[in-house]
Amino acid sequence: MEVPEKLRIVDMKPKIAHFREEIIQGLSRTPKQISPKFFYDRTGSELFDRITTLEEYYPTRKERMIIRDNIGEICSLFQKGSALVEYGSGGSVKTMEILDHCHGISTYVPLDISASQLEETAKKLSGKYPHLNILALCVDYTTRFEIPFLQLTGNIIALFLGSTIGNFEPEDASAFLWNVMDMLGPDDGVIIGVDLKKDPSILEAAYNDSQGVTAMFNLNLINRINSEFGTSLQTSGFSHVAFYNRKMGRIEMHLEVLQDMEVVLDGKTIKFNRGELIHTENSYKYDPEEFEEIANRNHLSLEKLWKDPDGYFGLFFLRRI
Ligand code: SAH
Ligand code: AVI
Repeated sequence: MEVPEKLRIVDMKPKIAHFREEIIQGLSRTPKQISPKFFYDRTGSELFDRITTLEEYYPTRKERMIIRDNIGEICSLFQKGSALVEYGSGGSVKTMEILDHCHGISTYVPLDISASQLEETAKKLSGKYPHLNILALCVDYTTRFEIPFLQLTGNIIALFLGSTIGNFEPEDASAFLWNVMDMLGPDDGVIIGVDLKKDPSILEAAYNDSQGVTAMFNLNLINRINSEFGTSLQTSGFSHVAFYNRKMGRIEMHLEVLQDMEVVLDGKTIKFNRGELIHTENSYKYDPEEFEEIANRNHLSLEKLWKDPDGYFGLFFLRRI
């Protein structure tokens, strides 16, 4: 398929190329761990999209509702000829609510580590919004990078939806906010979706859905290891574990090893012991004041907080102080 003139897809070669080294390092540690950024191969991105449609997984539904209910105010943030720069854009589904209504936006810059989903989504959006410049960057947003080819007459509004910021350790969330702040000028700002602290039973249900899609998402890491290393670990040798750690204010996801086994990865023998947990993800939940405090520490001030009526989810609009 020919790439339309207003669409540019740039592969900034994210560190994902180091998948093998990082996996070996993580599985050589005690306790074992795998970075959540490795969830998002083609199958992982598809499974995440299925998670977002589950009854128990309220964040997507709540965030979409917040965007819809406040779309007028959200659109007023964009000057004519502005750019919407989205971190971890995935399928850009909720973003379309913004692109449909906010006519000041002339350029959309989705940033994602999942090359296949980024490319498919960018092509789909360029068909749906032929007037829009789309600059899709395949990048690891935890690294320093410059956005190339960006020419604007308006401001920049950054967007980080889904509470993906909760997948960072708080100090890494802080470092991320600092980098975003550094990119913003006085007319710019950033909208960040944050999952708020609530009854742990609601949180735990969201990560232990009845259809087992979250379990498949977690176990897909084993399939990914097999396809990258040519190994034959069985997913049935592991089980999905997710619980709320109240002290740390986070949902933890792990893969529990169900039987003793060994695997050789690039010549390095990794032993798995029955009962051992491989830590695959943290998903931090914040109180509004806690999140505002982290933003303030990084020279960002809270201009607006939109919430759903149950107070499950918050959309924070921050500007550089
Ligand atoms: N914004 C969407 C998708 C959230 S899922 C939503 O709200 O539904 C998290 C997204 O972040 C995925 O698309 C994943 O590929 C991307 N992602 C995760 N870690 C990343 C990293 N280090 N750099 C760039 N993108 C990353
Ligand atoms: C992308 N991220 C915010 C999701 C979350 O809720 O932490 C990933 C996810 N993990 C399990 N379910 C969804």
